[in-house]
Amino acid sequence: MNIQEIIAKKRDKQELSKEEITYFVTNYTNGTISDYQAAALTMAIYINGMTEEETTNLTLEMAHSGDILDLSEFGIVVDKHSTGGIGDKVTLILAPIIASLGIPVAKMSGRGLGYTGGTIDKLEAIPGYQTNITIQEFRKNVGTIGISLMGQTLNLAPADKKLYALRGTIAATESIPLISSSIMSKKIAAGANKIVLDVTCGSGAFMKELSQATQLAETMKKIGKLAQKETVCIITSMEEPLGETVGNSLEVIEAVQALQGKMTEDVQEVVFTLGAYMMKLAGKGDNIEENKQEMLTQIQNGKAFEKLKELIQAQGGDISYIENLELLPKAKYVIPLLGAKCGYVKKLNAKGVGEVSMHLGAGRMKKEDSIDPAVGIVLKKKIGDKIEENEVLAYIYANREEDGKKAVKQLANCYEIVEERIEKKSGILRII
Ligand code: URA
Repeated sequence: MNIQEIIAKKRDKQELSKEEITYFVTNYTNGTISDYQAAALTMAIYINGMTEEETTNLTLEMAHSGDILDLSEFGIVVDKHSTGGIGDKVTLILAPIIASLGIPVAKMSGRGLGYTGGTIDKLEAIPGYQTNITIQEFRKNVGTIGISLMGQTLNLAPADKKLYALRGTIAATESIPLISSSIMSKKIAAGANKIVLDVTCGSGAFMKELSQATQLAETMKKIGKLAQKETVCIITSMEEPLGETVGNSLEVIEAVQALQGKMTEDVQEVVFTLGAYMMKLAGKGDNIEENKQEMLTQIQNGKAFEKLKELIQAQGGDISYIENLELLPKAKYVIPLLGAKCGYVKKLNAKGVGEVSMHLGAGRMKKEDSIDPAVGIVLKKKIGDKIEENEVLAYIYANREEDGKKAVKQLANCYEIVEERIEKKSGILRII
């Protein structure tokens, strides 16, 4: 067997055997297969697709390319993952709520590559917070306070780490077999027994159409079943950014305020729906509406916010920044974007907003780029909102005045304002 034959087979739309997939994953992980050969095969998969059996074999091989965490000492652990979005601060809000209900949260999150930071970048906006902890500290925190959020520093699914980075450089990210195997291999390696997936759909997501998002969700659910990890997929809208903020410390502020009871409706809908299914999978209640009510109670009684503080303290973060949000990094310039005419917001292009925030420094263009935690965007008007002339649509937070002025112009192009009334739509598109 050799890699040229495997590439040629996929190029010619043939099905790869389990042995061929094993050969590729093993030898790419250990460096025998080069990046350019892997790129050729990846692009052939992107163009010609994979059967369900091939996708499952690729997932399981990638999952076993490194260590598999055993979290059985904590009972039922429900993991959560998103296929990615703009303004996605869901984990920061959801994880403490779930942990405050006595359901263990042992989660590894990623850094962002592209438009905005990932959960790890957001947590690092809190001075002192350590995302790079050892597995012993991770277990200790889950055991003592019921929650730990760390970066992907362990040797879990290393094949995915290499392949995901490679895909980003060759325009081969938006592929159903490649996304499903990437996400599910990490989830299987990370040791949870049950999985809730937020499959985003719309202009700011990999899947632009509901039919594609549904196919991705169904593929991941089937892989979960084969791996004996019950999986629920919630397809959520990413037509516009989620919530009010895009940018790392701005999103931490929004998350903290959400845990203090001030949560935008769209964020609440996504957080409560994902959480209610996590509770169900954890055996904490079959009634989704009652579960949402319990989550709300954890916010109202302050326990969810307390859990966030416990987490930050346990991982070395300074909780004074959370108790007094004014202390978090602040951008030098806050520039308003004013509406040019009155009417209703019909569109707010999520991808466009993501690009603006990336150019401000909230995201990375290249893996090596550093992130500016202070910059970003606060969206005061979203789809369906009424606008008066000269009303503020959004604020740009910039550290360089020139960047800020440019961003205001770019952000204006993300809004489409029309005269007729626009209804707000539910952010939950489908549950699979
Ligand atoms: N998130 C992942 O972890 N992998 C993908 O391929 C896409 C989103």
